[in-house]
Amino acid sequence: MDAGDGLNDGAAPVGREPASESAVGPIPAAATRPLRQTLLRPGAPAEQSVYPGDDDAPTVHFGAHVTGGGLVGVASLYREARPGADHPEAPAWRLRGMAVASERQRAGVGAALLAACVAHVEGAGGTELWCNARVPAVGFYERAGFETVSPVFDIAGVGPHVVMRRPIGGGEAPRGASG
Ligand SMILES: CC(C)(COP(=O)(O)OP(=O)(O)OC[C@H]1O[C@@H](n2cnc3c(N)ncnc32)[C@H](O)[C@@H]1OP(=O)(O)O)[C@@H](O)C(=O)NCCC(=O)NCCS
Repeated sequence: MDAGDGLNDGAAPVGREPASESAVGPIPAAATRPLRQTLLRPGAPAEQSVYPGDDDAPTVHFGAHVTGGGLVGVASLYREARPGADHPEAPAWRLRGMAVASERQRAGVGAALLAACVAHVEGAGGTELWCNARVPAVGFYERAGFETVSPVFDIAGVGPHVVMRRPIGGGEAPRGASG
């Protein structure tokens, strides 16, 4: 697998989030793989950290770098309709591979990555951002304005999930949504 040569091989960061002391910017697909492997597929074959569509033209990968340091968080966006959507023709985007290094969690890095994802979808004219959320992470997505739209389902070897969505651009996001 092409997993890059370390945790610091992404492109130069472009944004800055003072609250998290990290900068979020686009990174190559290969740079996402070490954190995906560690946080999302521990012990699984490395190829499971390569997702379908990783290299498709609309796909974008974001990384969060600590100031002067390495990559501590990743998230990826795919132009993909949500299964069961009322309007499958609407320009929806799927969020995948959301992962923050264990020692950097609960410090705003995930929220900064999600904000970059929302901004990208808004900029691309998307109307919905959705994901298959791990049940232990549901509160994180709710905090960012996502709502659960499916029953709990199991992904073999990973655990229980729900589908969550956040409307983009139409002012439908729940009150208090910030990311
Ligand atoms: C889920 C994850 C991405 C969150 O990233 P993070 O950097 O820790 O999140 P943040 O610090 O930016 O948290 C943003 C807000 O969500 C809250 N939050 C974070 N994780 C949460 C959780 N698991 N449950 C409930 N709330 C959570 C934070 O308290 C914070 O709330 P606040 O704004 O009121 O202070 C990270 O914990 C992670 O990588 N976990 C392991 C991999 C994983 O489960 N990824 C998601 C796959 S669907």
